[in-house]
Amino acid sequence: MAQEEVTDRLGRQLRDLRISVTDRCNFRCPYCMPRERFGEDHTFLPRRAFLSFDEIEKVVRACIPLGLDKVRLTGGEPLLRPDLSDLVSRLSDLGIDIALTTNGSLLRRNAQALAEAGLKRVTISLDAIDEEVHQKMSDSSVTVSQILDGIEAAREVGLSPIKVNCVIRRGVNEEQATKLVNHFKGTGVIVRFIEFMDVGRTNGWTLGEVIPSRDLLNHLQKEFDLVPLESERSSDVAVRWGHSDGSGEIGLISSVSEPFCGDCVRARISADGRLFTCLFASGGHDLRALIHDTNGGGLTAAIAAIWQRRADRYSELRSEETSALPRIEMSYIGG
Ligand code: GTP
Ligand code: 5AD
Ligand code: SF4
Ligand code: SF4
Repeated sequence: MAQEEVTDRLGRQLRDLRISVTDRCNFRCPYCMPRERFGEDHTFLPRRAFLSFDEIEKVVRACIPLGLDKVRLTGGEPLLRPDLSDLVSRLSDLGIDIALTTNGSLLRRNAQALAEAGLKRVTISLDAIDEEVHQKMSDSSVTVSQILDGIEAAREVGLSPIKVNCVIRRGVNEEQATKLVNHFKGTGVIVRFIEFMDVGRTNGWTLGEVIPSRDLLNHLQKEFDLVPLESERSSDVAVRWGHSDGSGEIGLISSVSEPFCGDCVRARISADGRLFTCLFASGGHDLRALIHDTNGGGLTAAIAAIWQRRADRYSELRSEETSALPRIEMSYIGG
């Protein structure tokens, strides 16, 4: 019997699956994966624990009858996973929208293969245009010009839209916002500013470091004439603003000041095959045994049952009480 689309306890569908293909990264952005915290470095999964491309494909196939229409490959840095384009090729054959989030450092050498495999669009994390600030935000030796070259490579092979995600931290990179908007105005690249979130346990988050999107917008409006644009889908996380002269758009992602849990249709899979129903979940559901032990229908039914029990809305409940709960790191669960 064909499985029906599922809804959770708050009436939300399962539309968007984010798959972390590795928890490793060649950057160590302090807001995501600080090099050292409390005297200890991160511990990473052994590579043998990663789901194979076969296993990932099985999970995606199992979610399609439930209403899935979009998969985002993420990490860690997904392009550290060898032959990622092979996975893209398998998934694009399934007829769903495939997106990729990358730090851009390995994009020049991978863009062509990704596009040939069927990738249509890409999102690149870039928190600064000035080299010194970028170094501080990413804690890596990769330069801004290397990342810009990766973006150029994506453009050359026809990936579109190209989005740039920039996390803003008060006192560190807020001055970069105007520079990023200026840099990408008229290029077709959409820059989106993200409020620094309290995800994971290691990034030393404080509310004081969050610049609410409305303040950032006021700041940007001193420089640019921005007009509101319609959202494309109710579940989109970014609120869109366009340059009044038609030379492009920007986005604001206000996960702290204006949470969007009410429309959250996103599930996440960690690199070792655990299903998480919220970015802030303290635990996941191990799918690996199910992937091996059940036929496609069994896996679909198991994921449906997990989704139907879901009532997560962490960002709406965020408080001192919730901030003390254990949480998974974003690099593990997938941004
Ligand atoms: P497209 O619309 O498909 O381009 O992608 P997207 O905007 O859904 O995805 P993207 O991964 O680029 O999201 C941007 C950022 O928004 C993420 O890196 C997170 O910081 C934040 N974000 C995305 N989804 C969620 C979510 O479910 N909860 C919270 N709290 N933040 C999220
Ligand atoms: N707050 C907001 N976004 C974050 N990301 C990672 N850590 C955080 C955080 N603490 C997101 C950024 C980055 C992507 C890989 O994950 O959007 O570009
Ligand atoms: Fe790596 Fe992205 Fe996390 Fe930075 S934000 S450490 S680039 S996974
Ligand atoms: Fe979805 Fe959880 Fe983010 Fe809310 S906090 S939007 S429920 S992932």
